[in-house]
Amino acid sequence: MNRLLGKTAVITGGATGIGHAAARRFIEEGAFVFIFGRRQEALDAAVAELGPNARAVKGSVSDLADLDRLYAAVKAERGTLDIVFANAGTGSLLPLGEITAEQMDETFETNVKGTTFTVQKALPLMGQGGSIILTGSSAGTTGAPAFSIYSASKAAVRNLARSWAEDLKGTGIRVNVLSPGPTATELAKAAVGEEGMKAFAAMNPLQRMAEPMEIGAAAAFLASSDSSFMTASELAVDGGLAQI
Ligand SMILES: NC(=O)c1ccc[n+]([C@@H]2O[C@H](COP(=O)([O-])OP(=O)(O)OC[C@H]3O[C@@H](n4cnc5c(N)ncnc54)[C@H](OP(=O)(O)O)[C@@H]3O)[C@@H](O)[C@H]2O)c1
Repeated sequence: MNRLLGKTAVITGGATGIGHAAARRFIEEGAFVFIFGRRQEALDAAVAELGPNARAVKGSVSDLADLDRLYAAVKAERGTLDIVFANAGTGSLLPLGEITAEQMDETFETNVKGTTFTVQKALPLMGQGGSIILTGSSAGTTGAPAFSIYSASKAAVRNLARSWAEDLKGTGIRVNVLSPGPTATELAKAAVGEEGMKAFAAMNPLQRMAEPMEIGAAAAFLASSDSSFMTASELAVDGGLAQI
């Protein structure tokens, strides 16, 4: 499929996991992709694997000057931007009683503030036909022990899309939330461990974790004109976890 032929995309957190799988899929569908993240080695390895239609910019979504450098690089090489996949995210698990200010700051700085400025700073390069994809989670609509701060940050992301769809009226730019369920990535392993991953896999009707490419395929749908009448929506790709 060539649904993204000639399009330019930014994928934050695009060096690993879901973001990397999405980058591969976007490029397969014809896009030119800028990936963004904090670890140079991970970016270098990803660009080597993704090939000539990928570029990497090093930086943090919580640092506004880094985001300015990202979009300056996009403008310099491509002029305009069609797709933003605000995928960078973080999460750690602490039950009520043990929540720390550091955990809250890190989670909200990345997942809420980072998502907000990733999108806001992209807007001057975007126009008619643009697609913004925010990354939610099945955790944003469910409750689970020790998940409260991560889940609250993803519930916040869900609302950003509802409100921004209104703010974007008349621009031709759509904004949707992609909400994965448990997906086999570094983040999931670090957050819940091998045993936790097995337990999560057993909790949804499909009884397994998603492969990152299954989330990347849904991101490509939201990025493309196949989803042209969708905005402010949440697309759950969660094996049914948060739907039953
Ligand atoms: N895996 C799951 O089960 C699952 C389920 C639901 C939702 N999600 C969401 O999916 C998204 C991707 O996660 P993943 O599972 O693919 O995990 P991952 O492989 O750990 O990817 C996270 C990516 O985000 C980047 N990142 C983190 N903080 C950043 C920052 N401040 N600035 C720039 N980049 C940053 C990381 O790169 P650097 O560390 O190099 O910066 C990494 O490439 C996250 O938003 C996550 O909450 C995941």
